[in-house]
Amino acid sequence: MSASFSFTLEKTDGGARLGRITTAHGEIQTPVFMPVGTAATVKGMHPESVAATGAKIVLGNTYHLMLRPGADRIERLGGLHRFMNWPGPILTDSGGFQVMSLAKLRKLTEDGVTFQSHIDGSRHTLTPESSTEIQRKLDATITMAFDECTPFPVDRKGAAESMRLSMRWAVRSREAFVARPGYGQFGIVQGSVFPDLRAESIEALTKLDFEGYAVGGLAVGEGQELMFKTLDTTTPLMPVHKPRYLMGVGKPSDIVGAVLRGIDMFDCVMPTRSGRTAQAFTRRGTVNLRNARHMDDPRPLDEHCTCPACRNYSRAYLHHLVRAEEMLGPMLLTWHNIQYYQDLTAGLRDAIANGTTQQFVADFEAGQALGDL
Ligand code: GUN
Ligand code: ZN
Repeated sequence: MSASFSFTLEKTDGGARLGRITTAHGEIQTPVFMPVGTAATVKGMHPESVAATGAKIVLGNTYHLMLRPGADRIERLGGLHRFMNWPGPILTDSGGFQVMSLAKLRKLTEDGVTFQSHIDGSRHTLTPESSTEIQRKLDATITMAFDECTPFPVDRKGAAESMRLSMRWAVRSREAFVARPGYGQFGIVQGSVFPDLRAESIEALTKLDFEGYAVGGLAVGEGQELMFKTLDTTTPLMPVHKPRYLMGVGKPSDIVGAVLRGIDMFDCVMPTRSGRTAQAFTRRGTVNLRNARHMDDPRPLDEHCTCPACRNYSRAYLHHLVRAEEMLGPMLLTWHNIQYYQDLTAGLRDAIANGTTQQFVADFEAGQALGDL
């Protein structure tokens, strides 16, 4: 609790950054991938297993947890860390993004958003103030400002109005945030794919002196090329000595490309969700374990991987688990995918430290291009 929240930029290699975030709940080396633990669990994994992959920080969601089991209950039970047995850092998203993708009968106003729960249809409101208060009750190490994730595609005018609403909400989120040693709050840059709107958003947010800055409104259908192009004009305007978080990203190649463009933090449901649908990420691209070609294959899923799925089992066994709909199948594949993402970000950190990022990226791309053999 005594350490104050801080970010140290330790080294750069081209645009890529090696850093360290110090928090009340421990240190985080960046670039970092944060497994998604939406409902106070990384689906299908024990927290001890999540930690065993090298993960240092997980995500939680304001939207899901306010609806079930409720923020007051989690607070009474000692906060999210104790509730889910994850003593390390936790970042919570602020809820607006999830309302827009999950809730029914949503209504957005200057004040905030009212909606009906996707679970039982009950009516709720989220505002910058209530979202920030809920995240305090959850005891989030990193609180996210309440924003609107601008849909894509959008015209300039729509993108500007949406971004400016998020910036007014950012002011209110910042005012509602209760500063505590070792805890931080991140502002979220919006502005869709328009460089001048992204610039305006960064200017508005930096005045509020957040502990970190996220890039929101990307990976919403614009494609990798336009996402990278947007990052190319956005990250150079962001504060150098604060962590930068690209929300909801992404595929392994998205992460590698974004690290080259100066992003430090990532979260995505892809490794966990794909694990539940039999898709595995490997050093030679994606592999679908449901495919019949694995039926008699005694080899490990990924010979370079140290996870239990790869160390202790054959592709034939993983295929069998998937086909038989045994729950160990999704559990092992989720573990493998989280391990893969942790190994990828650890590899990037080592490469930045050694000044060999370009070689690392070349090897990564060669492996992905090779395909599963
Ligand atoms: N997750 C993915 N994109 C976004 C975004 O723009 N805002 C928030 N709050 N969460 C996100
Ligand atoms: Zn593995």
